[in-house]
Amino acid sequence: MTGPDLKIKIGGWTLKNPIMTASGTFGYGEEFTPYLNLEDLGAVVVKGISLEPRSGNPPPRIVETPCGMLNAIGLENVGLEKFISTKMQIFRKYNTDFVVNILGDSVEEYSTLAARLNDTDIAAIEVNISCPNVKKGGVAFGVDPQMAYEVTQAVRRRTDKPLIIKLSPNVTDITVMAKAAEDGGADAVSLINTLLGMAIDPATRKPKLANIVGGLSGPAIKPVALRMVWQASKRVRIPVIGIGGIRTTEDVIEFMLAGASAVQIGTANLIDPGVSGNIVKGLLGYLKQHKISSVRELIGGLKTP
Ligand SMILES: Cc1cc2nc3c(=O)[nH]c(=O)nc-3n(C[C@H](O)[C@H](O)[C@H](O)COP(=O)(O)O)c2cc1C
Repeated sequence: MTGPDLKIKIGGWTLKNPIMTASGTFGYGEEFTPYLNLEDLGAVVVKGISLEPRSGNPPPRIVETPCGMLNAIGLENVGLEKFISTKMQIFRKYNTDFVVNILGDSVEEYSTLAARLNDTDIAAIEVNISCPNVKKGGVAFGVDPQMAYEVTQAVRRRTDKPLIIKLSPNVTDITVMAKAAEDGGADAVSLINTLLGMAIDPATRKPKLANIVGGLSGPAIKPVALRMVWQASKRVRIPVIGIGGIRTTEDVIEFMLAGASAVQIGTANLIDPGVSGNIVKGLLGYLKQHKISSVRELIGGLKTP
């Protein structure tokens, strides 16, 4: 007898299961091999890459908060060419799908990154649109539907890799942003990125982060993420990838019932580096226990009153 089917599809890409790691919380994958088998995961999403290297923000860049954390890493990375010549070699060692997360300050930068990555053997591209468009006064691509549409369309024209647009939750209506990405040609949307927050030290009266504000992640944001995934999945036909505070198999099931086709695990990796592998096993156990033949049966299975 064969076990439950864990496979899911995003565009023309078939993932062995719906569990991915979230960008920025899992390095380039290899750092986590003492704790799990990368080949057990649906995909590994690596730290955001820009055209040129970035040194990120000054410290302190991380603060713990109740049920979560604030980070203001500032998208530190080695830059595209060094990434391709060094980090990408790691990927070939594993029978795992690697997704490269990209970021840029202009539509042109995003397009150039996509065109260059199109010639590599990565599984998919995830576009982080939470960055400010320096050419248009610094407004983040991710909060303006027209800009989100333009950047999606520009990237789409330069790559035939599966294209995931990663949405920011710092908007009034997430469904408008999800639709803009779908209209621009995305194969999927992933949500949510971090929620903007801050923390103050009452003793010194200073902000706890040198950058003053940072991105909130972890279990504290799960209800917000779940609500946005539910709303977005009702608005678009492309798959929705749920992210935000996931740390257990039950969390994954909640996201899939809300409409997610797959999920990404972020901050939980920093607490338990083996958690993503354990969740894959937990999901398989759940499907067996409930005699569910395919994980796809869970997608959008929410029973509303
Ligand atoms: C330390 C840290 C670094 C991150 N770096 C990136 C990044 O480079 N690109 C990106 O799109 N998201 C980045 N994120 C956001 C996560 O991928 C994820 O969307 C967010 O943390 C919410 O999920 P979680 O609650 O499971 O952590 C980062 C998050 C953290 C905590």
